[in-house]
Amino acid sequence: MTTADAGPAAAAAAYAGLRRQDPELADVVLGELERQSSSLQLIAAENFTSEAVLAALGSPLANKYAEGYPGARHHGGCELVDVAERIATDRAKALFGADHANVQPHSGSAAVLAAYAALLRPGDTVLAMGLPYGGHLTHGSPANFSGRWFDFVGYGLDPETGLIDYEEVRALARTHRPKAIVCGSIAYPRHIDYAAFRAVADDVGAHLIADAAHPVGLVAGGAAPNPVPYADVVCATTHKVLRGPRGGMILCRRELAERVDRAVFPFTQGGAQMHTIAAKAVAFGEAATPAFTAYAHQVVANARVLAQALAGEGFDISTGGTDTHLILADPAPQGVSAAVARGRLAAAGLVLDTCALPHGGAADVTVGDGRGLRLGTAAVTTQGMGEGEMARIAALFAGAVREEAKVRDAVREMAGRFPPYPSAGRGRSAPA
Ligand SMILES: Cc1ncc(COP(=O)(O)O)c(C=O)c1O
Repeated sequence: MTTADAGPAAAAAAYAGLRRQDPELADVVLGELERQSSSLQLIAAENFTSEAVLAALGSPLANKYAEGYPGARHHGGCELVDVAERIATDRAKALFGADHANVQPHSGSAAVLAAYAALLRPGDTVLAMGLPYGGHLTHGSPANFSGRWFDFVGYGLDPETGLIDYEEVRALARTHRPKAIVCGSIAYPRHIDYAAFRAVADDVGAHLIADAAHPVGLVAGGAAPNPVPYADVVCATTHKVLRGPRGGMILCRRELAERVDRAVFPFTQGGAQMHTIAAKAVAFGEAATPAFTAYAHQVVANARVLAQALAGEGFDISTGGTDTHLILADPAPQGVSAAVARGRLAAAGLVLDTCALPHGGAADVTVGDGRGLRLGTAAVTTQGMGEGEMARIAALFAGAVREEAKVRDAVREMAGRFPPYPSAGRGRSAPA
């Protein structure tokens, strides 16, 4: 049996065991598998991991306590998990051309928290994209540690183009003299000009933190610019286009390695989650293959076709298209709000988020509560869908928003032709 074969077999066995021991919980797990298999996941932040990644996540490494770093742990018995973490960090460094990688952050937010802890002191000024334009909660929300402990200044987006106005960023930086500048967003469909941010940071003597949670998978596949040569610290998630387990990581220059490592452990986290780190290693290995490069480019090609087709259906597409996996669509021309549209789409099996929109009036709030619809092509591309399917999704999407009949059945049929985990069945029908 090859490593790749271990996943399906392990998954099938795990589901069968779970069903015998805990039918109540098995119902939730298999019901969720069925939901993911019978609807289309257009949430821009989601993807389907490989079965090998799932196998690592469900492995005995989940049992291991491992505070500290390889070769310097506070617990015994870490010899093998040390190997896993070294593989993960070596693969991350090679994949992104970074001097140093820390693969322990439990999430993207934990990575950002550690980056701030490494570079800032409470009360420092930070310049980041304003939340109403697509800044993340960790970029200064008053409901988050970031807004409570630091003094955030927000840059916006050009109301006409929806693009970052680098002159505005420079002007704000010169006025407020931030200690750090954050570039990155939950909803920016275009490439970020990291060299322009670097120039502004150098102009005012600020650190540059790239929060590449969204584009990092495209970077791995060579389909988006790499922030590593420009930013002092790069924070990322591993579970979006990158197709790894739910988690975070930090990449940085050699000089900052010790500060970053101490900021993760012991400053902001305790024991590393070794099963997740092993799964990150598997994902980084997958991301280094030509197949992943092809995948990343297909994600973008699919997003471009989907954006164009949605425009053809009468949706207003922010920035006129996309360079990435992510599309922002305004449903207003259809005469419905984003919240109503999202409900109709969900009922049809098209799962996505509402989101802030930069154009056409005052920018609004954050994911879950905005005037726009945010969708992405990472998951459907993993399922093997191409440009033809994107055109079909756009038609189904428009049909669902306009409440035309039979869309749910068509979505179910389409999803059924592209099962995310073929060997695990479709949820409640999984092999017992
Ligand atoms: C730009 C950005 N930063 C940070 C995060 C936080 O990641 P997590 O949800 O893993 O904490 C996200 C999540 O979507 C994000 O988009």
